[in-house]
Amino acid sequence: MQSILDYHELTSHRRGSITGRPPNQANRPMPFKLYRGVPVVTTGVETDLPDIPLDRAREPRTPPDRADLAGLLAATCSLAAGISRMHTLANGSVFHFRTVPSAGALYPTELYLAVQNVIGMDDGLYHYSPFSHSMSLLRRGSVFERGEGDGPMARFVLTSVFHRSGWKYGPRAYRYCLLDAGHMAQSLLVAAGIHGLGGILDYDFDDTALDDMLAVDPLLEGSLVQVHALGCTADTAWAVPPQATADDLPDFSRSAPRPEPPPELLEAHRITASFARCPMDRRPAPGDNATPLLPPSLPASTAATVMARRSRRDFVPRDAPTRDLVDILGLLCLDRAPECTGAVHTGFLAAPASGLPAGLHALHRAHCTAARLAGGSLLTRSARVCLDQGWLENAAMHMVFTADLATLEHRCGPRAYRHAHMEAGRLGHLAYLGATAKNLGACGIGAFFDQEAAQLLALPEGHSLLYLVAVGCVQRPR
Ligand SMILES: Cc1cc2nc3c(=O)[nH]c(=O)nc-3n(C[C@H](O)[C@H](O)[C@H](O)COP(=O)(O)O)c2cc1C
Repeated sequence: MQSILDYHELTSHRRGSITGRPPNQANRPMPFKLYRGVPVVTTGVETDLPDIPLDRAREPRTPPDRADLAGLLAATCSLAAGISRMHTLANGSVFHFRTVPSAGALYPTELYLAVQNVIGMDDGLYHYSPFSHSMSLLRRGSVFERGEGDGPMARFVLTSVFHRSGWKYGPRAYRYCLLDAGHMAQSLLVAAGIHGLGGILDYDFDDTALDDMLAVDPLLEGSLVQVHALGCTADTAWAVPPQATADDLPDFSRSAPRPEPPPELLEAHRITASFARCPMDRRPAPGDNATPLLPPSLPASTAATVMARRSRRDFVPRDAPTRDLVDILGLLCLDRAPECTGAVHTGFLAAPASGLPAGLHALHRAHCTAARLAGGSLLTRSARVCLDQGWLENAAMHMVFTADLATLEHRCGPRAYRHAHMEAGRLGHLAYLGATAKNLGACGIGAFFDQEAAQLLALPEGHSLLYLVAVGCVQRPR
């Protein structure tokens, strides 16, 4: 495998040869990272969540009172990555559903928090456990080099535990690790936003230095995203890692008796470690046939929406409320992509039942316009492309996230591959939240026949489908 494009090709699904590996139940990964032998702070579950409409979640708001920050940081972690529902299985064990979706419900993404000058918390590096609603203190001491003044600083970091997804999906799992991390990045931005903590997304950093700061085993777990909050920015340098609270922290990256991340996955992570050379925005300007979308209206409470989100597959071919679908598209337009991420093209396939002109549309998020590129009823074919998941044909629309991977690699370097997938996951998360707020169903789809997808969407040479999110009416609205 020479390049990240080779990885993409190698992990493409073709009819008759779906990549993956038979999961070995004896080596099933634990979906939670539970540290032992380190100081633990119990955070509790926030019940009094702010009541901010979803379409205003990311508006700037006044920084909170300094005395409340520790509680708000904990509440942000729990809303961004916590447990939203528990389900008892036939064998009596309890399955924990999270506020974020995850391919195969394998939950590879872990959340860490570095803080300094926050009243009520020791300076240091923490790991957030959704299982026990607690934070484990992994390093105690100054984590950031002294900036100006002594204001509070916080930085969230997301990693991926590779065996968790790799166990089931084999080499293709790196794509899912990235999409999952994108989901949680957006979940974090929303949660930090409504708690007034700000949040600046950052996909570019020195992997080795960050993995070292987090004390993870880099062959089992890798850093993917930073979100800077409070007085912290991308320019806030990490300090020399303070003393770890235990010697064996890297051992906790082991998620199974014999964690075996696929070598191709590790190689893809290694190849994409370089810094991305951006900004790059190659999205074409909307043409004359582009229709402006109405400003979105999503007054539902953000926190309630996050807690209610689920993947739904019980779509019914009923006429969908067109205005609601337009509002969901509009929610994606409100989002401002961070630098270096103008890489993802957004489109949607509209079913006749959507009330929108049936066919393939491009969504120009920066201009909040949509333009139909091709007519026809395409969802049945799209369901076939998605590994014959037939229920998808009953959705009202399939939102599609694509990228010109070849040009990205050439112009921005291999790390742009990560950016594109995480952006697709992040935008997909907005689609989920928008659908939930409108009492519609949504389901993310990472499994599709890659070449057939490119043909269906009439993608130019070098472009690929990264992710699809189906949205529509469901049998049992909540
Ligand atoms: C990246 C990604 C890919 C997914 N792919 C599929 C898929 O191909 N088919 C499917 O039925 N669900 C898919 N899902 C949905 C997950 O199965 C679902 O998130 C998981 O079971 C947890 O349930 P929840 O979303 O209701 O919390 C995907 C989710 C993500 C984030």
